[in-house]
Amino acid sequence: MKIRTQVGIIGAGPAGLMLSHLLYLQGVESVILEAASREHIESRIRAGVLEQGTVDLLMETGVGERLRREGMFHEGIELRFGGQTHRIDFCELTGGKGVAIYAQHEVVKDLVAARLTANGQIVFEAANVQLRGLDGARAEISFEKDGLLQELSCDFIAGCDGFHGVSRPSIPEGVITSYEQAYPFAWLGILAQARPSSVELIYAYHDRGFALHSMRSPQISRLYLQCAPDEDLSAWPDERIWTELQRRFTLAADWNLNEGPILQKSVTGMRSFVAEPMQFAKLFLAGDSAHIVPPTGAKGLNLAIADVRVLADGFKQFYESGSTELLNRYSEICLRRVWKVQRFSWWMTSLLHRHVSNNPFEERRQLAELDYVTSSRAAAQTLAENYVGLPREPY
Ligand code: APR
Ligand code: PHB
Repeated sequence: MKIRTQVGIIGAGPAGLMLSHLLYLQGVESVILEAASREHIESRIRAGVLEQGTVDLLMETGVGERLRREGMFHEGIELRFGGQTHRIDFCELTGGKGVAIYAQHEVVKDLVAARLTANGQIVFEAANVQLRGLDGARAEISFEKDGLLQELSCDFIAGCDGFHGVSRPSIPEGVITSYEQAYPFAWLGILAQARPSSVELIYAYHDRGFALHSMRSPQISRLYLQCAPDEDLSAWPDERIWTELQRRFTLAADWNLNEGPILQKSVTGMRSFVAEPMQFAKLFLAGDSAHIVPPTGAKGLNLAIADVRVLADGFKQFYESGSTELLNRYSEICLRRVWKVQRFSWWMTSLLHRHVSNNPFEERRQLAELDYVTSSRAAAQTLAENYVGLPREPY
């Protein structure tokens, strides 16, 4: 069977779903092909911090109703080191901006519901997706659904299929330059049935390694601790995890980390990655398919949303006027933000993690930097404006 559409989208993560939603609002047709099932993408545990601009976009485009009700709106974070805690007041430092704590899979659920209510097409469990004719008159995507081979013919393809997807590898060799940085540590993350121990997120620097206190609801805590990239989860019974977290969040003054049953545990690796350019002929890469950031600062989802806003504007211009001027500049426009966010994510990561070498100079340097960030308004403001999300630049 052959289907036609204007924009074929591969991947129903935040990037693919938001792009399809924005295109729908502009009167542009799209079809999403997703390898996993709806249940899978709606329950996959990922990060959960939305920048102010992401929150505003979800609200402005009619998919922010549950976020408004259930999201936890934060106006700052705590940095904890040397037995003391210091607050960075985003709201005061950025002229009223903040972030929302709302799990990525909840964003995915809201976007899937909106697309399906508007009769949007999402093909779940689409197998063996292949891209062809990227530099021909029409791009084609073939896939199998329920054992049947199908073809989707499109004006353009948006590759929103994450780091391990098929889109980026479909670009001919030599077109893309990859920039990559590995880190000698990872995060052991848990979801626990425990009331959050603080109103805001706590980023803790400790001799034993970094720890992060986050949350998902007034009853659920999300906690992370720095571990080795090849950490064996079976060596981490619940009790060991709590003991380690208690140690890393210790304060000179009284403070209590709430414990409870652990609902989920996993190890998240860390890397920085950028593919340049983010476009080849009729294929546009967006989100994790084009770039990965380490999780410190929670920028992955927000960067994916920033990409598809530019892409949707480019398609809007094309379908309204026939001009590809903006589409031609898609990669260049996105990469300016991508690299600034890479810089910030790398900086937060290197500020807060203990280096495996335990170099005493490095430790002193990190403590001095933490002291600077928490005592200089200029430094705190730099952190705050990046954390709540850099403003969109005109293009
Ligand atoms: N065919 C179809 N779909 C695919 C294929 C394929 N070959 N490969 C991957 N996918 C799907 C995945 O199942 C997933 O649902 O593409 C989707 C990609 O979604 P995400 O990984 O969520 O990526 P993205 O939408 O770019 O979201 C940005 O920010 O918080 C970070 O990494 C986190 O997912 C997050 C990302
Ligand atoms: C999360 O809640 O999952 C989270 C929060 C902040 C981060 C990373 C992850 O920097």
